[in-house]
Amino acid sequence: MSGKLGRPVCLVGAGMSKFGAFPDKDSRDLFVEAFQDLRGSVDKGLDPGEIEAVYLGNFSSDLFEHQGHLAPILADWVGLTPRAALRLEDACASGGVTLRQAVLAVAAGAYEVVLAAGVERMTALPTEAVTDTLATAGDVLYEFPAGFTFPGFYAAMATAYAARYGMPYEALWEVARKNHLHASRNDKAQFPMTIREIMDRRIAKAREKGGPVPGWKDEREFLRDPGANPPVAWPLRLFDCSPITDGAAAVLVVAEEVARRFTDRPVRVLGTGQASDACLYGREDLTSLRAAREAAAQAYTAAGVKPSRIRLAEVHDCFTIAEVLAIEDLGFFPPGQGWRATVDGATRWDGPLPVNTSGGLKAKGHPVGASGVAQAVELWKQLRGEAGARQVPGDPDVALAHNVGGTGQTCVVHILGRG
Ligand code: COA
Repeated sequence: MSGKLGRPVCLVGAGMSKFGAFPDKDSRDLFVEAFQDLRGSVDKGLDPGEIEAVYLGNFSSDLFEHQGHLAPILADWVGLTPRAALRLEDACASGGVTLRQAVLAVAAGAYEVVLAAGVERMTALPTEAVTDTLATAGDVLYEFPAGFTFPGFYAAMATAYAARYGMPYEALWEVARKNHLHASRNDKAQFPMTIREIMDRRIAKAREKGGPVPGWKDEREFLRDPGANPPVAWPLRLFDCSPITDGAAAVLVVAEEVARRFTDRPVRVLGTGQASDACLYGREDLTSLRAAREAAAQAYTAAGVKPSRIRLAEVHDCFTIAEVLAIEDLGFFPPGQGWRATVDGATRWDGPLPVNTSGGLKAKGHPVGASGVAQAVELWKQLRGEAGARQVPGDPDVALAHNVGGTGQTCVVHILGRG
């Protein structure tokens, strides 16, 4: 499998809505916000009439919003009918799969200009119902009846990894601290705050109320406090989890031969890969995702690059342990070393391999159908030098996005490069 694209493909626009919890917004509002942000990003302007098809990533508008058949509705909402509009679902990898299918359609010559978007509105349901809805991405025959939830699945991976490699669980908080630090420089993030700022806000609130004031001296003390950072599924605690999020993201995928119509600074799709795996109960190893390794191998081959060539990455940190597994599965660090590299600061925005400069799913937020597309939005900004206060130094030219569906039954990897 060479994975080579039939013809070169570029991204020429990228945008996203603010991520967060928005009681007054539904998928349509979020999608329109992302679409307008994308339009503003196209250097030479975008006439929506140029868009030939709309590919939409969405996990479960049916259950979250009681709205099926979302793609044509959203296309109509921004005036894109009668263009083809279709929805793709692969759990939390819906966005990455959507981007990949849009890229393949353009590479195959079916279209020249495709809008690849993702959206999820999750917060209208109470947390228990969201947890049940998300659990349908596991196996409802064997896993759901055994009581597994998504925090539970990743807790199983965390315990297996810690047992094999001697990782102290507190090391996982370094993923959260780093991603909150990055999100504090991203005004589109759900939590645009460092953990220190969250801690200080809680202290200030307690003072205001005149009740007992917590005596946390630093972030570590705050994270150790089960009142502030309660267990969700042991050993994972609140700050090990991505939140429940509303949000949308969109990128404009075009054939390279028409890219200059939109911008003189396109971002190239150098490689794409996708793979699948059995559900978690059917796997021999819980410390690595086979589908991530396979998808990455395809993308590296297609791009003709090695992991050492990647200058920054957005990886699927739905739980802190997931980021540790990702940076090993992608070949950035040897098995068992990802947590140490994180503790050493190697993956901070100013480190040798910045990971999740957007704040990641952990702190930017995780509207599941949009997350894979939002990763591409961040890489687009970084590769064009437009990431503002979180811009990775040194003019990065090659970047990778890694998006996981479920517990790793689906993985998608994209490698993007400065055009
Ligand atoms: N990290 C940090 N803080 C969080 C948080 C998170 N993931 N989720 C919520 N909070 C904060 C809220 O901002 C709020 O803070 P405040 O009191 O200062 O305003 C507080 O925690 C309570 O928020 P609430 O929404 O009531 O939390 P919850 O208990 O209903 O939900 C989780 C918390 C962790 C259970 C929920 O976010 C969750 O299920 N996350 C995992 C989602 C998931 O599985 N996605 C798919 C992955 S594959």
